[in-house]
Amino acid sequence: MSGSPARGRAGGKVILLGEHAVVYGRPAVATGLPLGIEAEALRDAGPRLESDVVPGDARGEALVAQAAEALALDPRRWVVRVCSDLPPGQGLGSSAALCVAVLRALAAAAGRRLERDEELDLGRRLEGIFHGTPSGIDPAAAALGTTFRFVRGDPPLVERLVPGAPMVIVVAPGDVPRSTGAAVGGLRERRQAERARYEALFDAVAEVVEEGIRALCRGDATALGAAFDRNQTLLERMGVSSPEIERRVAAARVAGALGAKLTGGGVGGAVIALVDDEHEAAVTNAVRQQAAAAFRIRIAGVP
Ligand code: MEV
Repeated sequence: MSGSPARGRAGGKVILLGEHAVVYGRPAVATGLPLGIEAEALRDAGPRLESDVVPGDARGEALVAQAAEALALDPRRWVVRVCSDLPPGQGLGSSAALCVAVLRALAAAAGRRLERDEELDLGRRLEGIFHGTPSGIDPAAAALGTTFRFVRGDPPLVERLVPGAPMVIVVAPGDVPRSTGAAVGGLRERRQAERARYEALFDAVAEVVEEGIRALCRGDATALGAAFDRNQTLLERMGVSSPEIERRVAAARVAGALGAKLTGGGVGGAVIALVDDEHEAAVTNAVRQQAAAAFRIRIAGVP
């Protein structure tokens, strides 16, 4: 092995509103997580990914190969080593963070700094290795790390959002990893069978997302919490919730959350609960009965 390592980092995300419907062209809102993935690219016999995120998986090799080729590097000469503090398989964007971190490490190795739209486009294409038809919102969050409204497209529409007041969210990952690809694929089949019903559900989600954005921007946590709850009802109707998610959502609401919902692909995985100062500890304790690894994030308000 020779040469000094080139490094890249990318963060996970939570989708505040609009997951799944975003695959079908409706708007969604996401925010970046401080937890993420570090990657370092080394000259060695490749393509290879050394990872605790996708252990022994051919998809890791495909990721390094495709990212290297996109950067005009010879894939046979590159190994990427990654480490993560992001729980995998929880809908918190670990696949997209992996793709963007690998891309950034290899871009550094190639002596390049990618433009934002190029990074978003490559990130979305690479995420397709992990689940078939991504909207691109997860790699956008991994690349940007901020709070934003997103509509898929080529290029996607990305608008940064600044909350009118800080928002505190308790994130409660589940115990068992699940697959976003399977959740997206299952919904695709149900939509093919009953197109009008699902398009109406996606339109209803779009309305909730726009109301939630207005609430977020004016700093109205009560109205944003109500949008979380309405979005969760629509996600249940889409068939992407689960009894275990609904138990955590109910526990958060009983403990005083302003609103709670699944986040990301669903069918298991993390739940998010919007909290005020008065109820934060009670909600955290309640969800920790079922999801020991719960943590908090704070979305900063207008400076
Ligand atoms: C996954 O984090 C979000 C989904 O909407 C899929 C996607 O947008 O690619 C379920």
